[in-house]
Amino acid sequence: MHFNVLVAHLASLLTVASAKDSRTFAVNHFYGQGPLTEGRMDPIISPGTASSHVHAIQGGSNFNLTMDNDALLDSHCTSSLVEADKSNYWTPSLYFQDPVNGSFISVPMFYMNVYYFFEPTDDGIEPFPVGLRMVSGNNSVRTPPPGGAANVLDTNAGTIQPVQWTCPRSSYDTPSYPATSDGLHGVGIQDPNNKGAGAGFPYMNCDGYASPLRADIHFPSCYNPKAGLDAFETNMVFPSSKGTTGGKANCPEGWTHLPHIFYEVYWNTPLFAEMWEQGQGSQPFILSNGDRTGYSLHGDFIAGWDVDVLQKIINNCDAGDSGMDKCADAGTINNSANSCNIANLIPEKISGVLEKLPGNNPPTGWGQGEATSSGPSQTASAQTTTSVAPTTKSETDSESTTTSTAPAVETGIGSWSYLGCYSDNTSTRALTGVQFADLGIGKVTSTGCMDYCGSAGFSLAGTEYAGQCFCGNKMEGGSKIAADKCDMKCEGDASQVCGGSSALSVYEKAVKAESKRASAHFRRHMYGKHT
Ligand SMILES: *[C@@H]1O[C@H](CO)[C@@H](O)[C@H](O)[C@H]1NC(C)=O
Ligand SMILES: *[C@@H]1O[C@H](CO)[C@@H](O)[C@H](O)[C@H]1NC(C)=O
Ligand SMILES: *[C@@H]1O[C@H](CO)[C@@H](O)[C@H](O)[C@H]1NC(C)=O
Ligand SMILES: *[C@@H]1O[C@H](CO)[C@@H](O)[C@H](O)[C@H]1NC(C)=O
Ligand SMILES: *[C@@H]1O[C@H](CO)[C@@H](O)[C@H](O)[C@H]1NC(C)=O
Repeated sequence: MHFNVLVAHLASLLTVASAKDSRTFAVNHFYGQGPLTEGRMDPIISPGTASSHVHAIQGGSNFNLTMDNDALLDSHCTSSLVEADKSNYWTPSLYFQDPVNGSFISVPMFYMNVYYFFEPTDDGIEPFPVGLRMVSGNNSVRTPPPGGAANVLDTNAGTIQPVQWTCPRSSYDTPSYPATSDGLHGVGIQDPNNKGAGAGFPYMNCDGYASPLRADIHFPSCYNPKAGLDAFETNMVFPSSKGTTGGKANCPEGWTHLPHIFYEVYWNTPLFAEMWEQGQGSQPFILSNGDRTGYSLHGDFIAGWDVDVLQKIINNCDAGDSGMDKCADAGTINNSANSCNIANLIPEKISGVLEKLPGNNPPTGWGQGEATSSGPSQTASAQTTTSVAPTTKSETDSESTTTSTAPAVETGIGSWSYLGCYSDNTSTRALTGVQFADLGIGKVTSTGCMDYCGSAGFSLAGTEYAGQCFCGNKMEGGSKIAADKCDMKCEGDASQVCGGSSALSVYEKAVKAESKRASAHFRRHMYGKHT
């Protein structure tokens, strides 16, 4: 036996896989500027060539069009906080199709989490073998899951349904999905167990705090070593609860039980909230593969773990939402102030305003013919815009005639987004970091307040009563109120809104994902629904 192989064997004997009576989990957090990279790259489905559609990719820097099984281990950096994880995780990117002129506008990725669930089983759970490739979801589907929107992750419970969209809303008075939807006419169908989730795209803006539209993808956890690392079409199945007790689910005889991973990919959809009519039977988001329905959501994974570190995490860590980087055995943690990024290896314009989706994928699904590509064609006009701002709702808008909308704000990671109109009062302020920031008499604007608060190191900025600016890192009291309560023009720029009477226009800086995740408010959105 080769010495290295012998050492690996000894190491795996030292850290033995253990069966589980109850679930433990740890969320793998990423850091840095945006994902590792974005582009038409997919070494699993389209090795060596441009893939059909754009993906957002996280993880180890040795991601490439063609990859040897152990290529990732030599990555010089990883966008995972846990340095021992150089795996790659990817999903299709999201675009907004302008309902007025048909242009496509890239939606910035907000951030991504990968849950590592170690679930009850009689099997020993083992780490991902280096080089394992797997895919979950189906790129070709344009119709709702036959068994309904609810996830099915147990082969004993019916046909597997591994993907959903989650649309957290500040109020479900108008649900994210219409109750009568059949999923075939412009909007998806709601998960009967979860108001905020469904199959296919919702038709409302997802305005939950720090939680825009989210792609959710569960992966199977049973690996067939006989099929092999590369056989992504056949090498994995979901476990089965058949014949087990205590909520356990086991893998078939001879298969290896691996962690159950679950991707959450948040897209900054609220940036576009003012550019489409919500709840009107159609919605404007489209996957990079041209899918208008969202049913074809899928995820890909190549394992690049230090297997000893992952085995210890499986056996000993239950850090939950606080993050895998908090596990005692996680090893070196990257500095979240840095960033690990690589270039798009298929150089072409993929962000900003586009007349066609990269790879020229026509819109499909929900009645859009394969052949028709909506929108004006061949306008070779200025395509240099890389930042997109929501337009201010016009006075003729049917819903309201007040200037109730957010002013235009910069988009993208590292910029600000509008959270909404929040109550405030003079006795207990909602934002207490800096009160009545001095921007100069008559000079207060919402953009100026964001600049001020950002420079002072705060992640939230709020303007009130036309001329007041407050900063903070969290809301202390104050709840979201009707958008039209923030109806005052800013003293420093009448084209912007600066809150109202006892009403704050609140903006949040798209901080590094790590600190956003840390907020208690955010944690509340987490795993509860998946149990
Ligand atoms: C991708 O592979 C090519 C060919 O082997 C190599 O030249 C290039 O440096 C690789 N890119 C990255 C980002 O690793
Ligand atoms: C379509 O509208 C968007 C948003 O207003 C704009 O950025 C884009 O340039 C427009 N496209 C064309 C072809 O005019
Ligand atoms: C993916 O979906 C297409 C279209 O519904 C179907 O023909 C195909 O069999 C599916 N593939 C798998 C692996 O289920
Ligand atoms: C991540 O941590 C490793 C080990 O400390 C270090 O070599 C690497 O430069 C770090 N990368 C980044 C982007 O911080
Ligand atoms: C305002 O006052 C109420 C009760 O008087 C209090 O509960 C609330 O937290 C205060 N602050 C904000 C920001 O609404």
